[in-house]
Amino acid sequence: MSGVKKIEHAVLEVTDLDEAVEFYTDVVGLVELERADDVVYLGCGLDENYDLGLVEGQTGVEHFALRVTAEEIEEYESRLDDAGVETERVSDEPGQTDGLRFSLPSDVEMELVTVADSSYHHPVKPEGDRNAVTPRDLDHINLMTHDADADLEFLEEHLDFAVSDKIVGESGFTIQAWLRHGRFHHDVGLSNGNDVVRTLHHLAFQMDSFDHMKKFCDRLASKGHRLELGPSRHNAGGNLFAYFWAPGGNRIELTAEMATVDPDAETGIREIDRETNTVSTWGGVVPTKEFLEEGS
Ligand SMILES: [Fe+2]
Ligand SMILES: [Fe+2]
Repeated sequence: MSGVKKIEHAVLEVTDLDEAVEFYTDVVGLVELERADDVVYLGCGLDENYDLGLVEGQTGVEHFALRVTAEEIEEYESRLDDAGVETERVSDEPGQTDGLRFSLPSDVEMELVTVADSSYHHPVKPEGDRNAVTPRDLDHINLMTHDADADLEFLEEHLDFAVSDKIVGESGFTIQAWLRHGRFHHDVGLSNGNDVVRTLHHLAFQMDSFDHMKKFCDRLASKGHRLELGPSRHNAGGNLFAYFWAPGGNRIELTAEMATVDPDAETGIREIDRETNTVSTWGGVVPTKEFLEEGS
């Protein structure tokens, strides 16, 4: 059985490191675990693992990682090697005991990792000083990719991802896709974009409940920040959502109640319908052109 527990961590580039660290620690309530090689490692604090790394630069994804088992690292390494994909073993990040790094066809860097702390989350055994709105964990990543079909095929063929849902254009190319490696509806989302510089549509944090999201949004607003979209419930995955742009230049989603999916479930395929609001099942929440087309 797969050892994957959704996304393990992501390192994002931010335009102003100090401003971003202050936001993610003070407003979001993440715990600073370590600083090394210009990267600030932050965790949600319910285990010793880091969830979000920040490095000063532009915006978007420096790399992201899925947790797997040691056996899976061996297996995927040999499959990627056989397929002619360059890989590298990396284990220099805090808490990361082993890692296999490679590039997706869109050039985004991905890792499969094992971590030292595999304990389960216990609310009364926090690491560091969490606050009342701190997310439970990282949930999923949605990449902005200039070739969603190439990334989708790579994730399916080499890494055993399954496509839970996708939206296709008139000629059948993928506009958006949601892929799972474990039992949740999506661990990785793909949003087709024309801009090869943009690598991230959003990074999502897992919240306990709608009430937890409400408290977070109250805190966000009290600190002078506004939501971009939501809250509402998504079509794909059925998860609750609220989106905002974080200081440093990346879009963040708060989410809860992500559906679990039968491993044998077939892909749900929908054609794009620009007249219909496909983002929110409830209606009343209309995504802007910027939300649909812009990333970081
Ligand atoms: Fe990593
Ligand atoms: Fe999402």
